[in-house]
Amino acid sequence: MKILIKNGHIVDPSQEIDAPGDIVIENGKIKEIILETSPGRVPAPGLDIQSFTVIDASGFHVFPGLVDMHVHLREPGFEYKETIKTGTRAAVHGGFTSVCCMPNTNPVNDNETVTEFILRKAYADGACYVFPIGAITKGQKGEELAEMGMMAEAGCVAFSDDGRPVMSSLVMRRALEYSRRFDLPIISHAEDEDLSSGGVMNEGRVSLQLGLRGIPSEAEVVMIKRDIELAKLTGGRLHIAHVSTAGGVRAVREAKKEGLPVTAETCPHYFTLTEDAVKGYRTEAKVNPPLRTTGDIEAIREGLVDGTIDVIATDHAPHHRDEKLCEFDRAAFGISGLETALPLSLSLVREGVLTLSDIARKMSLNPSTILGLGKGSLKTGSDADITILDLKKGWKVEPERFLSKGKNTPFEGFVLEGLPVITICKGQVYEREDR
Ligand code: DOR
Repeated sequence: MKILIKNGHIVDPSQEIDAPGDIVIENGKIKEIILETSPGRVPAPGLDIQSFTVIDASGFHVFPGLVDMHVHLREPGFEYKETIKTGTRAAVHGGFTSVCCMPNTNPVNDNETVTEFILRKAYADGACYVFPIGAITKGQKGEELAEMGMMAEAGCVAFSDDGRPVMSSLVMRRALEYSRRFDLPIISHAEDEDLSSGGVMNEGRVSLQLGLRGIPSEAEVVMIKRDIELAKLTGGRLHIAHVSTAGGVRAVREAKKEGLPVTAETCPHYFTLTEDAVKGYRTEAKVNPPLRTTGDIEAIREGLVDGTIDVIATDHAPHHRDEKLCEFDRAAFGISGLETALPLSLSLVREGVLTLSDIARKMSLNPSTILGLGKGSLKTGSDADITILDLKKGWKVEPERFLSKGKNTPFEGFVLEGLPVITICKGQVYEREDR
């Protein structure tokens, strides 16, 4: 299939491009970028335009397809929450062309059979590319290392016990040591369970008012600092998942200053909402780590600006309605994030915090580089994974319109600006019906 994307504003940090131009796609690969300033500019001389599907991107921005390095696809085992099919459709709807799925499925992705199952399903049913993340420990129990070598061979791109921390420092040390053999990162769900134990929201003023048990910031900070020390000891690559605290940002900043192999991500809810969102016992705002304070939001934004935080990921955590329609204490932790992440992140651009190029880095190039996915770029020869954005399009968040089975979002009713109107992936052109 031949596609010509005409007159879009192309943003590709891998080539330092932030300029108007056209993109030529042939056989699922990027053939050429012709910038408006290029000599002999479009309509590209010699192009047999009749044989091309032409996409008019006038007034739109053209990004490398977004890469989400932290998604829960729930299959196998929790298909009532999400499947590989629905999760990847939700991803494409949100502008993502690659997602990395966490291993807290049933059975846990702690061996190559489960990894191969996920890859097979994703190949058959997936609207976008799926890269599995294997468990660090068997059954995510935190005790015995999983079959990391076999999983690496089968196609896992990182290891994590996400959803649960690895409480044993010795096990974490061994995981970081062992992962060096495959040059794959260990992704830390940084939570000291002794400190967070029984907590359901941030510990502070609001938890006191609501009479809910709190999770102190220190539950995250203590664990980030431990894992940084272990990365220093072992030389293993460490990636900190869903940073939610100012202390966490400071710890990662210091580690980077020391030159340690540490990277970090945050999620849109951590730079958008505070613990106040929980008021009224709103279970949609129950997430782990919990929503924090204005001070934490400021620190996370600073961390995004100075490069301490490399990645914006969703931590897409779809749940069934009944798992949120219950008492706050009993409700599941998690936010369905794939279909709101990009517009929420674009609000940082409107507020002058980040540039569009920063967004393309943190939501495409950086996660791809950290995990070695070979995505996140519009260079000649790359897969034609492309996200076309209408930055001005206003829309209201209506969870019932999500393609994800998970309608659990604290952003219901928010009016956001910016929509991924067309996503190109695996040779398909997906156009949003509400563009
Ligand atoms: O809120 C969360 N939900 N945090 C996690 O770490 C896991 C996730 C889930 O799997 O539902």
